[in-house]
Amino acid sequence: MNLASRMARIESESAFEVLVRARALEAEGRDIIHLEIGEPDFATPRHIIEAAKRALDDGWTKYGPPQGLLALREAIAAEVSQTRGIGVGPEHVCVVPGGKPMIFFPMMALLDAGDEVIYPNPGFPTYESMIRFLGATPAPVPLVEERGFSFDLDVFARRLSGRTKLVILNSPQNPTGGVIPAGDVRSIADMLRERDVIVLSDEIYSRIWFGEPPLSIASLPGMLEKTIMLDGFSKTYSMTGWRLGYGVMPLWLVEAVNLLMVNSNSCTSSFTQRAGIAALTGPQDDVVAMVCEFRRRRDAFVAALNRVPGFRCRLPEGAFYAFANITGTGWKSKPLADALLEKAGVAALSGTAFGEYGEGYLRFSMANSYENLMAAVQRIEDFMRLSSQ
Ligand SMILES: Cc1ncc(COP(=O)(O)O)c(C=O)c1O
Repeated sequence: MNLASRMARIESESAFEVLVRARALEAEGRDIIHLEIGEPDFATPRHIIEAAKRALDDGWTKYGPPQGLLALREAIAAEVSQTRGIGVGPEHVCVVPGGKPMIFFPMMALLDAGDEVIYPNPGFPTYESMIRFLGATPAPVPLVEERGFSFDLDVFARRLSGRTKLVILNSPQNPTGGVIPAGDVRSIADMLRERDVIVLSDEIYSRIWFGEPPLSIASLPGMLEKTIMLDGFSKTYSMTGWRLGYGVMPLWLVEAVNLLMVNSNSCTSSFTQRAGIAALTGPQDDVVAMVCEFRRRRDAFVAALNRVPGFRCRLPEGAFYAFANITGTGWKSKPLADALLEKAGVAALSGTAFGEYGEGYLRFSMANSYENLMAAVQRIEDFMRLSSQ
């Protein structure tokens, strides 16, 4: 029995594969510093956990509406309206089990074979995987290190065609830590406003930034009605394992996502959604403290990486990734990532895990303690020194 042919076009995610290899090395007694996986190393805030426990005791253990609980959608609509300066109601919100389904469902709903999708490269691997899976045509636009890992807007403009159906933006960005400057977001909106395209704006790192706040394209004139805004609880509230995310979109897309939810998950877990209400409406001190700690780690880790011969790393402006240029070492990305794991005990990801334009880079997740991050750079430096002898 063969799998359906489309299964030959879907990819896995390297972060999970490297994690498995790193765990296997640990099982052999090796000491590995984990800088591969993109999940905050902080506990979910206490009051959110208490809200989930209360919800279980109160009987939130049954099916709920496929679109999500009204009270959570109201809280999301209020949060999004306030943070993005737009006016959306709960009818525009779809609650789904994590951020990823808000990539999967809209792409399933929108893309036919031959439709072109513009997306960042290097970028979150699910984008390209889903484009290929659905038989659509990938139109990657490289991110330019010298532009703070934003697009070259001329290249972006040339990639637009009569077949472009979807444009994916991600800011703050995985894997580069780049934040698309407000001026670039405005220019992109100007290029798209009159076109028959939809934007998937992946804003899962919307609360984790250190300099200029990210601007959502949805907040620009004429763009709300053609944007799906993705956000969620995984990163902001350190809730990766809870599986809770959402999208804000025009009503005709809400209908499509609801149909896909009915046919797949039925609904998102009810008690988890109750905890989501507590997350959005409760104290935000833990989020502030987490971002503050990420900034402290970023400053020290990136400065130290820049002292490793052959490494050059821009200061990321958001998310919690350092995307280091390693072309000066003479190594290719994948062999260096493998060698650092096997020989130095540092798990990082090759830039090529995020697309062809990630060659020449390594991604380090700063979701590990300050001490471990500094120990990791020391190991990398020692390895580079030995390997160049
Ligand atoms: C850019 C981006 N979008 C979406 C997601 C998916 O988030 P979730 O874990 O909530 O599905 C991630 C997770 O790493 C991400 O980096």
